[in-house]
Amino acid sequence: MRMLTLVMLCSVVAASCTARDEALESGRDAQSFIASLASQSTGAADYFRDLDGGIALSPAEQQGRVTWLVWTAGNDRFWERLSRLSGRTLDFLRIVSSHPSSSIARGTRWSRLGLVNEPCFEQATVPRADRFGLWLDVRRDGPDCPRDPFENESAHPGVKVGARGTTVPVGSFYGYASGVVGLRLFPNPDFDAEAAKAWDAERYYRDGRYAAEAIPPYRVGMSCAFCHIGPNPVDPPADPERPAWRNLSSTIGAQFFRVDRIFAWKADESSFFVQLLHSSLPGALDTSFIATDSVNNPRAMNALYQLGPRLSLAARTGRETLSDGSLDNRQLNEFIPAGDPLAALFVRPATVWTPRVLKDGADSVGPLGALNRVYVSIGMHGDEWLEHFNPLVGGTRQTPISIRESRARSAYWEATELQTPNVARFLIRASAPHRLSATPEGAARLASARDAIGRGKAVFAEMCARCHSSKLPPMPADVATIGACAGPDYLRCWARYWGWTKTDDFKQRMSALVLADDFLDGNLLSTDLRVPVTLLETNACSPLASNATRGAVWDNFSSESYKTLPSAGTVFVRHPYTTEEVAFRLPAGGRGYTRPPSLVGVWASAPFLLNNSLGRSNPDAAEGWEAGVRAETPSPTVANRLRAFDEAFEQLLWRERRPHDPVFAALGPDARGIGTIARTTARSYLRVPAGYWGAFEGAATSVARAWFPWLVGESGIELGPIPKGTPVNLLANIGLISDSSALRNRAAHGKEVLQLVKDLQAALAALPRGATDEQASRAFAGLIPQMLRLSTCPDFALNRGHYFGDGADGERRLSDRDKEDLKAFVASF
Ligand code: HEC
Ligand code: HEC
Repeated sequence: MRMLTLVMLCSVVAASCTARDEALESGRDAQSFIASLASQSTGAADYFRDLDGGIALSPAEQQGRVTWLVWTAGNDRFWERLSRLSGRTLDFLRIVSSHPSSSIARGTRWSRLGLVNEPCFEQATVPRADRFGLWLDVRRDGPDCPRDPFENESAHPGVKVGARGTTVPVGSFYGYASGVVGLRLFPNPDFDAEAAKAWDAERYYRDGRYAAEAIPPYRVGMSCAFCHIGPNPVDPPADPERPAWRNLSSTIGAQFFRVDRIFAWKADESSFFVQLLHSSLPGALDTSFIATDSVNNPRAMNALYQLGPRLSLAARTGRETLSDGSLDNRQLNEFIPAGDPLAALFVRPATVWTPRVLKDGADSVGPLGALNRVYVSIGMHGDEWLEHFNPLVGGTRQTPISIRESRARSAYWEATELQTPNVARFLIRASAPHRLSATPEGAARLASARDAIGRGKAVFAEMCARCHSSKLPPMPADVATIGACAGPDYLRCWARYWGWTKTDDFKQRMSALVLADDFLDGNLLSTDLRVPVTLLETNACSPLASNATRGAVWDNFSSESYKTLPSAGTVFVRHPYTTEEVAFRLPAGGRGYTRPPSLVGVWASAPFLLNNSLGRSNPDAAEGWEAGVRAETPSPTVANRLRAFDEAFEQLLWRERRPHDPVFAALGPDARGIGTIARTTARSYLRVPAGYWGAFEGAATSVARAWFPWLVGESGIELGPIPKGTPVNLLANIGLISDSSALRNRAAHGKEVLQLVKDLQAALAALPRGATDEQASRAFAGLIPQMLRLSTCPDFALNRGHYFGDGADGERRLSDRDKEDLKAFVASF
């Protein structure tokens, strides 16, 4: 009861806590941030001309490219806030440094962190006097390395706030290049005379306590490119630590990004927080990690391919309806002439033809809404965003961030909305396929597999194209309804579609399409339709992500159609200790689906499945899930990518080749619901620093104290020891908040959570000093049923499902020869 009152109080407080952003506060309007091509004279427009195979861009597309690569929308304020909250566990200033006291350095950014070094820089070998003693990358001047035009402060005047213009310069609104693509440095407005006097860079690097309290001279901002740039698969760098711009692709995705090392630079394994990050495989991260929905669901940063064809497909089968706050999304019509086909993607008042953006298809309000939302999710207008949830730990009910209100309170927000139409134009141009045939090794492999490829086409037409092609035979009238029935009727429409794809008529016509020489041209190689996870049998945690459901933080960025999707049915998951099969009913209201990924360029994107759990990014690594995570990032050569592809593809089609957690050993390779499990790699503790609560004034702190009164001491919360080998999601997915809208259920749920925390604390406190893992495990074991009952996603098997061609839905099992042929053909995508 007490908890309930506090939760309500919190939402009342939250509503009154919203603020204007720094830009508005200092008198800037949106227009003043538009990187007009006046910056042509500074060389900005074609600074990146070698990227993406040197494609020719229109001025609007060039502008979009600049936005994608260097615009951070003022989020440096947010990341600095989060860095402080975390006691500098998260510290991007470290990530861009090469101080000798740490293992982080420019020379190993690719191999250790999977990050892309910015061309034209060298590793720092001494503290930089012009950077307040920080060991930041040093720019190499030369004819091939012109000045960074985005640092030009008169062309791109920064926001003059706080100490800027006194102890630190105002700087540019694009910040300074950091040496890592996607991270930009901004003079810290809090670095006033007093902070400057207290500043000691050497101590910052060496003394964690000092660093936690220090006010550094820079804040670090993040652009979209941070997680979306990568080595160009068809023109890879000779040395991955030293790429040139021509070796990079803006859209391939940061496929090897190590979120555990990047978001926690010290990677202290005894921290459960680090263990949680560690459950993200290379190249994947949980986009609901900050605005947590208590569903740990890391997702691969997929390549963006064929966006033009994806939008044309949306015009055919992507109709959805908007309502309430989602009506406030920007639509392309506002920015482009009426005759342009893209202008047909929205019709007033509420009909949109949209790609199903994100793995779960939650972003379904049109392309611009999808782009704009991500700016918020990486910290734009973060002061407002943070009012709608309790970052990282959850435990308070989320409220929707309102597009209309935020636009009015943030000049960065509005400036972003004005620029994303050009980002869309750029992405449409830059998302052309990277074909294996464009590389010498690739061309040779394809030539020697010509016959197999020919045969593989028929298999693909029979088994795969119905989900992995945007070119389909004309649909019979009753099937064609699928294009417009997202909403309560969706499953019925899906069933008719799925039934049709099993008919001989479909297969014959599909075969003719696949056999045609132009099958791959302009083909997204996805239908972009939501597939019920009950059919996929894949891990249910991504489909269960809830941040875009009605009333949650992204409410304004999902359609009414999404919010009214029916339950996709019941999935069967396995108890992580007894392996007993348990039925889990999927909720209605948007969740329970995954849209097929594009298979364009899939030869270069292993491991597979949305959590990157099928296959390994480094096939040279020692066996096993854990070892795979720890392996260094491989050099992104064509040969390495093909080896990873072969391994992942074989695991995809031959289910008996997939590794499983030892707990499932007795069940046999065909058992339902088995797979690898993310387990903690060391004994760990759930620690929440006191500063973390302190920074949440008012209600959030009171709620925390109400929930964990005996835990919140002066130094914060410490819960543990959590034994080594504990399934990470057993703890990570405990739903602190009930899904139910009924108050009585919520109260009961709250009581149960409290009881669990109490019992957990008691069991662990009773352990002797220096208890063994076995003793800790025993203390833990009794509480597992309670934890599973409160779980938002009790599905632990990561690399399961997608058994198409291998017995899914009672269909035929392909022969080994069919599978080999399919592999040969799919490599040519
Ligand atoms: C911290 C990492 C990170 C940053 C920064 C980032 N993204 Fe992403 N992006 C991801 C991940 C992870 C996914 C896959 C998520 C999913 O599909 O559910 C993704 C996917 C996407 C997709 C593709 C979804 C699809 O359906 O194919 C788009 C479009 C996108 N991001 C846009 C942006 C924009 C715009 C920005 C800059 C505002 C941005 N991203 C910045 C991590 C990031
Ligand atoms: C019912 C629709 C459906 C069918 C049929 C289907 N797929 Fe998929 N495919 C998906 C979905 C959805 C995913 C993403 C699943 C996930 O990651 O959880 C996927 C993922 C994949 C991936 C991994 C891509 C990546 O980047 O992670 C590959 C490769 C793939 N499918 C190939 C095939 C092949 C080959 C066939 C035919 C044997 C096939 N698919 C049949 C829907 C389908």
